Amino acid sequence: MSEYLVKLLAWSDEALQAIENSSHDERDLEDLKHQFIVFRKKLNENKKLNEQEIYEQALKLYNQFQAQFSVDDPDVVARQINNQSIVPIGEHRLPPLPYAYNALEPYIDEETMRLHHDKHHKSYVDGLNKAEIEMQKARRTNNFDLIKHWEREAAFNGAGHYLHTIFWHIMSPNGGGQPRGNLLQAINQSFGSFHQFKKHFSEAANKVEGGGWAILVWSPRARRLEILQAEKHQNLSQWDVIPLLVLDVWEHAYYLKYKNDRKKYIDNWWNIVNWSEVNKRFNEAQNVKWHPY
Ligand SMILES: [Fe+2]
Repeated sequence: MSEYLVKLLAWSDEALQAIENSSHDERDLEDLKHQFIVFRKKLNENKKLNEQEIYEQALKLYNQFQAQFSVDDPDVVARQINNQSIVPIGEHRLPPLPYAYNALEPYIDEETMRLHHDKHHKSYVDGLNKAEIEMQKARRTNNFDLIKHWEREAAFNGAGHYLHTIFWHIMSPNGGGQPRGNLLQAINQSFGSFHQFKKHFSEAANKVEGGGWAILVWSPRARRLEILQAEKHQNLSQWDVIPLLVLDVWEHAYYLKYKNDRKKYIDNWWNIVNWSEVNKRFNEAQNVKWHPY
């Protein structure tokens, strides 16, 4: 038996196991189970098999399996996620600086770096962990009285943690100069030239009102770069995250029908969520993997 067929056999064993252990209604899976058993038998028959044909059958089974499991079986999703390296709830860590505290001298001094990284960034990490644990507690106890407060804390500290983690890594004692390759090409396309980009970015940074950031972002929708200001990054968004499911609760979204009964609008809205689209976004989003901290 070829290595490919051996792998397929192991894969179909695993799939059958998952079907056996699944919490789904058995009747929904009967047909899929039967198809896997037939497929397995075929692989085991020791006859000479057409690998292309086998591949096509396996692909069909794979798609059917995904359709059954990928959207709504929390066990399967949890297993998929656990196979990757994840940051568990309340366990974010302060990333070590990728260079010495004095490495960015004379542009950024050692004392600032120590304070900025060890104290400020650390307090974002602690605050984010605390907020995540409190929100988990709220879900467990079904007590959401303080959810607004903890959402604010999660946003403020999460944005702080994620943005600082990017910030340390996008600087280097060997930095400066101009980008090359794809990035330079995209900058030229989006802003006209590197010079114009640099000017725009500097002006945006200089004109951030109060605390905040200048941020170069990639829009997967527009497929272009853009420069944004994040004034007071805590404005309830974390940055460095990808939106999957969004619910518009501006009054214009429900006022005609629901008047001021936002709660009823929200309750009803769940009836029209297109989970397969959300799942598609989730699968795409998982392709972006930064080192976990
Ligand atoms: Fe900072």
